[in-house]
Order: sequence, then C-alpha cells, then structure tokens
Amino acid sequence: MTLYDSLIAEYRTDTGLSVENPANGDHLFTVKNYSVAEVENAIENADIAFKKWSTLTGKARAAILRTWYDLIIENQHALAALITAECGKPLTEANGEVLYGASFVEWFAEEAKRLYGDIVPHHADGKRIMVLKQPIGVISAITPWNFPVAMITRKVAPALAAGCSAVIKPAEATPLSALALEKLAIKAGIPEGVFKIVTTTDPVEIGKVLTTHPTVRKISFTGSTAVGKLLMAQSADTVKKVSMELGGNAPFIVFEDADIEAAVAGALISKYRNAGQTCVCANRFYVHENIYDNFIEKFTAAVADFTVGDGADEGTVVGPLINEAAINKVEELVENAVADGATVALGGKRHTIGGNFYEPTLLTNIDHTNSITQAEIFGPVAPIFKFKTEDDVICMANDTPYGLAAYFYTKDMGRMFRVMEALEYGMVGVNEGVVSTEVAPFGGVKESGIGREGSRYGIDEYTEIKYSLIGGI
Ligand code: SIN
Repeated sequence: MTLYDSLIAEYRTDTGLSVENPANGDHLFTVKNYSVAEVENAIENADIAFKKWSTLTGKARAAILRTWYDLIIENQHALAALITAECGKPLTEANGEVLYGASFVEWFAEEAKRLYGDIVPHHADGKRIMVLKQPIGVISAITPWNFPVAMITRKVAPALAAGCSAVIKPAEATPLSALALEKLAIKAGIPEGVFKIVTTTDPVEIGKVLTTHPTVRKISFTGSTAVGKLLMAQSADTVKKVSMELGGNAPFIVFEDADIEAAVAGALISKYRNAGQTCVCANRFYVHENIYDNFIEKFTAAVADFTVGDGADEGTVVGPLINEAAINKVEELVENAVADGATVALGGKRHTIGGNFYEPTLLTNIDHTNSITQAEIFGPVAPIFKFKTEDDVICMANDTPYGLAAYFYTKDMGRMFRVMEALEYGMVGVNEGVVSTEVAPFGGVKESGIGREGSRYGIDEYTEIKYSLIGGI
C-alpha cells in the first residue's frame, strides 16, 4: 500500500476538513475535524505520555527519532508528492523540503544525547551548584502551510529529543503531510500520545485551547505577526514559554562591487522559492545606481524564462499561490504599488492559465515611499529600488518593524562586516540567497519573533533550567 493509500485508509472521513489542490481546485480528501473536547483529550494523553517519554534516556529517544528520520527519507518521494498536491510547490522543491524537514529529525536525534547541564564553581565552602536542563512538558505547535513537513519537524524533533510530548495543529490547507509524518512517527516507535496531530476547520477555537490549556507549558508558532501577537496574548494567562517565527520583510542589497551573476542567481532563489511564499523570501531589492540597469536586465531575462504551472508537472519553476485570498492580496499590492508610481518591468497580473497563478513580476523605478516597501508580499513579486550610499541603504533596509532575514552581495571584506553587523535582522545572507539549514539558528528579531529553531540552540526552547544548591558537603 502506498503512503497515500494508507493515509486515505486511516484518516479519510466523510465530513470535516476538506483538502484541495491549489493548482486545480481538485478535492484530495476530507480529514477529521477535532472538537475542543478531543483536543483537550489529546493534551491530557500527551501529559500521560510525557511522564514516561521524559524518563527514557537521551540515547533511547535518539534511537527512535533516528528511525523516524530513516522512514521519512525512505518515503521522500511520497511525502513530496503530498506536499505538492496540498501546498502547490514544484516537486523538486517539495523533495528538497522533505530532506530539509528530515534533517531536523536527524540533527535533534543526535542532540538528544547532548542535553548537557553545568557544574557551577561553588560560592561557599561545603556547597556545590548543579544546573540541569529538563524537558518543559507538553508543548503545542501551530504550523503553516508553506512548509507543511519542515515546519513540523523543526519544532517537534527538538521537543521530543528534549523529552517533551507535542500536540500539533497543522494549517487547514495542508493537514495531509502532517498526518503522514504522524503515521511514520508511530511506525518508528514514537509512543502513543507523544506526538499528536489535531486537524480542524476552526483554527481560532483550537488555537485558544492550545494557548490556554494549563497543561501545555510551551507554544511554538510559525505564521503571521498579527496571529503571533494574538497567540502570545492568549498564552500570557498561564505564563507559557513561547517561540514565535513570524513575518518578514527581507531586504536584498546588491552593492556596486558585487558579483552580479551570483547576485542574480541568489535573487532568483531567494525571491521565487515556493512562488515567493516563505517568511524569508527577499521582499525588497536594493541595487546600487551604477549597476541598476545591468542587474535588472539580467534578472528580468532569467525570470522571463520561468515556467509557471502545476507543481506536479515536470519543469515547473513557479507554482500556484495557496488560495484565492493570497492571489487577491498580491494583486492589490501590485495595483497599489503601480498607483504609487512603480513601473511593471515584467508580469504584473494574474497568469493566463487562471486559478491561483500569478505572473512572476518585477517592479522598477520605485521610490522608498511606495506602499509596497512596508508589505510582506508573500508572492512572486520583486520590487527593485535604487540606492546611492551604504549608509542610505542600511537605513532603508532597517526601516521596517520586521527583522527576520536580510541578504546582501559585495566583494568588499570590510563592508561584509559593517553591513552584516548594522542590519537589524536575526539572519543575514552575505553573498547567499538562502540561509536555511538545520545546523544554524533560524529566527528573527523585532516583530519577526522570539526564539531560535534548529542548531544547538533549538533544543533549549523546549527545556527549563533547574539549579540545585547542594549543601552539607
Ligand atoms: C518559513 O517561511 O517560515 C520558513 C522558511 C525556511 O525555513 O527556509
């Protein structure tokens, strides 16, 4: 039986959350709509499971997580097909996402064995100081549709490695990849209750349960800044630990001395990955006035070559946007940018293939007062600004409440350090258009979030520090 068939056999229901393919509107299948009482029950089961899971050795948890990793890799193509079917990204990107998602499971399986504490030099005779890291308890997570596998593993793998149990609400658009991960986790030997997916048509109500239930000790969220603020407010009453990976407005700066070919290659991947629907996508391009025309000529030629279509079709580079609301938003942003004086150098409208497809778009001759500078575009639209000096461009790049990712291209070593340090962002790509990897800390500053995911820092988000003073020695 294929992974898809086994999902249908286990999770298909007659009524509940209906899942559609954003490329053609086809109904995939319907899954369960969890009630508030059922989610509360999942939290209580997670608490029971936590008591046992947290007492296993790190080595034992590591072995189970490693098996989960192996199963994800074994099912790479089946998972990728599911991602493409429910979220629309091209199959090559979906396959890349499965590997990226699996890498967090592999990494944190290894980290499970390294949750070190400290012996602190004592401050008085006859005493000793010990610092432990302990799992925080039951955690909840609310995950987005743009990386339906990787955003779950990036949260669940460190949580489980630390000894926590997890209840996850995936995005309404993409529950199937989440359920596939759950199925593989059970097969890997992750005990009942330790990792539970709850699917729903009512994210507001279920979000409330996940942020207010007293047994949940931590909430991790990836999504918009507006929703993140609401979840933080809801979590305040029970003083939960929070991790928030929120919106971005990434500047992509090309200095006069940059390698233009490399900058164009970086711009293409940074902007058009997942049709521009990632929090770290380049959102505003700043190109030095002396190379502006040259950069635009090369960038336009490359973007004009993109094949737009169903992500399942071979050769597709840009897939659909996730839904009608997304395409309406992008359409309005471009209309407003043009009304504010921007020139459409390429694209600028819905694609002729219809549905949720928007043309890869370049906007030029924009000045910094244009409304699009302050919007998180989340679509295949690249506004390109001109700048004169390093100071000016740093100022424009930092002129946003967001602070997730930023990118710049230069060959000047001094400038690399100056600009990297001056940018108010959690992640900076220097001569690189993609910064995501399991080995480095992913996260933002300002209104882009709190906390870090991946890397050796990621597991700390799921632990509490306990200090013990031992006397009478
Ligand atoms: C995101 O868009 O939130 C995640 C992107 C990434 O991990 O590269």
